[in-house]
Amino acid sequence: MYDLIVIGAGPGGYVCAIRAAQLGLKVGVVEGREALGGTCLNVGCIPSKALLHASHMLHEAHENFEKMGLMNAHVDVDWTKMQSYKAETVLGNTKGIEFLFKKNKIDWIKGWASIPEAGKVKVGDTVHEAKNIVIATGSSPSPLKGVEVDNAAGTIVDSTGALALAAIPKSMVVIGAGVIGLELGSVYARLGAEVTVVEYLDVITPGMDAEVQKQFQKMLVKQGMTFVMGAAVQSASVTDGQATVSYKMKKDDSEQTITADVVLVSTGRRPHVEGLGLDALGVAMTDRGFVKVDSHWATSVKGVYAIGDAVPGPMLAHKAEDEGMAVAEVIAGKHGHVNYGVIPGVIYTTPEVANVGLTEEQAKDGGRKIKIGKFPFMGNARAKAQFQGEGFVKLIADAETDRILGCHIIGPSAGDLIHEVCVAMEFGASAEDLALTCHAHPTVSEAVREAALACGGGAIHA
Ligand code: NAI
Repeated sequence: MYDLIVIGAGPGGYVCAIRAAQLGLKVGVVEGREALGGTCLNVGCIPSKALLHASHMLHEAHENFEKMGLMNAHVDVDWTKMQSYKAETVLGNTKGIEFLFKKNKIDWIKGWASIPEAGKVKVGDTVHEAKNIVIATGSSPSPLKGVEVDNAAGTIVDSTGALALAAIPKSMVVIGAGVIGLELGSVYARLGAEVTVVEYLDVITPGMDAEVQKQFQKMLVKQGMTFVMGAAVQSASVTDGQATVSYKMKKDDSEQTITADVVLVSTGRRPHVEGLGLDALGVAMTDRGFVKVDSHWATSVKGVYAIGDAVPGPMLAHKAEDEGMAVAEVIAGKHGHVNYGVIPGVIYTTPEVANVGLTEEQAKDGGRKIKIGKFPFMGNARAKAQFQGEGFVKLIADAETDRILGCHIIGPSAGDLIHEVCVAMEFGASAEDLALTCHAHPTVSEAVREAALACGGGAIHA
């Protein structure tokens, strides 16, 4: 009898299992993939970061080496070798989780699970007993009507297929200007593909601060990506290995087409709960197919919990990890908590884009009086030395109390810089607290301090 069986070994599930084991529980994790780590480690965050890193290096060699006196660099791309580098990166991480499971005496139950009744998890013909069950089964790409993904054929692909194309395409159409489309689109743009992004809305990365959206799109256009905005994709077909995408322009209903070697469908993801038997078990679901949970991640069935992409909220690995740790604490009789107001989001393009807390629009819509401190990376010596002087830090604080409400960064190391603001927000800090904190010179982090100074008496270098 297990104290806890976790279903799914992605960032939510494996972190939950490790924390529960650390708290003294006997834990098993059911995972049917050949490797631990879920979508994130196997076909998501980690492999995409390997390709983003490699293609960024190529871009640096082509665009910036000569500017620094590094002459005659002629870099060819060996796609097979780049794929091996990506695979080794993934393997190192998935093996790392296996090691952590052994270290924490967690059983990896191999196979796909269902829950025939509370307290029981069925894998193959074996039924395992568990006092508690955590559903951490993640998400999968949402299908798009009229567009059939075939990753094996490699012409119309989702994110999984796009990470493992047989060759670098000459042209690529990306459907959806969200996080996946822009990260993978920029990988192939840097590798030489002509990339066109077709987006239904008039802005990219829906939900982000409007100023960042505009600046980000401008920078991607400068890098060679093309955007067709306000266009609803209707269908896609393949003839002789070439895909044709049809879309309807919202402004005049005109139908247009575009052809490409590869089409990436990145129009969102949906919770992955098929095959678990949740219907028969009587687990309540939301209208959009997520598992309904209370503030302690408990489902409507006693002893069954759910976390991560399977429940409502941002579909982010780190949000799942936090919920995994917190639910383990709850199950162990302690107090698990996640502060949903301070969950950062990062897009790992170059430049990186990062955000936490309220956007300017959200703060204003909520009727809050705010002040904004903005600082351009052009005023930051370190960023300029690295040819990354574009972009800015935008800090949003309450006009009356000076409490930090949000931060939006587009520029070098944005994904790392955002965390000092996260810590500040967790401590209920004011913009002045950040402004009075000594930041080493020369670092790109000074731009965050300058934005905080701009909320008060003014930035020094602007
Ligand atoms: P998304 O929800 O971020 O963006 C999808 C985009 O597709 C939207 O802009 C939407 O307007 C557009 N769209 C939908 N239907 C369309 C149509 N018929 N024609 C044209 N455009 C259409 O979805 P995405 O990029 O697939 O990502 C899925 C999830 O994965 C997100 O929740 C994201 O946060 C997460 N993710 C996060 C990463 C990160 O944090 N770095 C990396 C990769 C994924």
